Amino acid sequence: MQFVKMLWLLLAVVCQMDATCLHPDTAPNYTNEQYAGLWYEIGRIQTPGGAIFQKNCLCDTANITSSYVGIGDAKVTYACRNYDVHASVTSVSGTLKVGEKAGNFEQSMNPLIPPVDYNVVWLDEDTAMEYDCGKTFFIENYCIHFMSRTTSIEPAKLQLMKDYADKLGLNTKNIKYVPVLQDGCW
Ligand SMILES: *[C@@H]1O[C@H](CO)[C@@H](O)[C@H](O)[C@H]1NC(C)=O
Ligand SMILES: *[C@@H]1O[C@H](CO)[C@@H](O)[C@H](O)[C@H]1NC(C)=O
Repeated sequence: MQFVKMLWLLLAVVCQMDATCLHPDTAPNYTNEQYAGLWYEIGRIQTPGGAIFQKNCLCDTANITSSYVGIGDAKVTYACRNYDVHASVTSVSGTLKVGEKAGNFEQSMNPLIPPVDYNVVWLDEDTAMEYDCGKTFFIENYCIHFMSRTTSIEPAKLQLMKDYADKLGLNTKNIKYVPVLQDGCW
């Protein structure tokens, strides 16, 4: 009896966690051409689980490539330096399988890590914002990445992006924004 109760409780908790993964509106007029190329990550809002994969990273970048025009599968290569701006670059690649609408993908990094839902929610000439969310071992993790074509984002613009993330209700656990070090990297 006790065990059954525990199981129900566990299921309730798990479902609740699952429910916090959102499927936000993606950037209007998303195209692979506009998203492709190198992005510098200026900052992020990230649950602790996801942070394990990016621990101690500085000078983070994401390089997007796709052979499809407009909408279609793409590839992402993340690169960063460990602990030190002069450290050698380590990188890892993943695939972006096109999802239900333009700007929505399923990101797979490794057969051992479950894929995450990946959404480009903001995209203009100089900046992009991407929200991904997934469940690993029953724990839901999300991350909001703030990216730029250059190594910084003007404060007023960054604030606009944060406000937009709030408007979409993406930061369900009220996690603090953390800047990524880019100064001295390049
Ligand atoms: C999207 O495209 C439509 C039609 O070309 C245009 O009117 C609109 O301004 C675009 N929206 C954005 C956010 O660029
Ligand atoms: C991004 O990836 C493409 C394709 O692999 C490559 O040609 C390009 O040099 C990369 N850009 C950077 C800055 O690493």
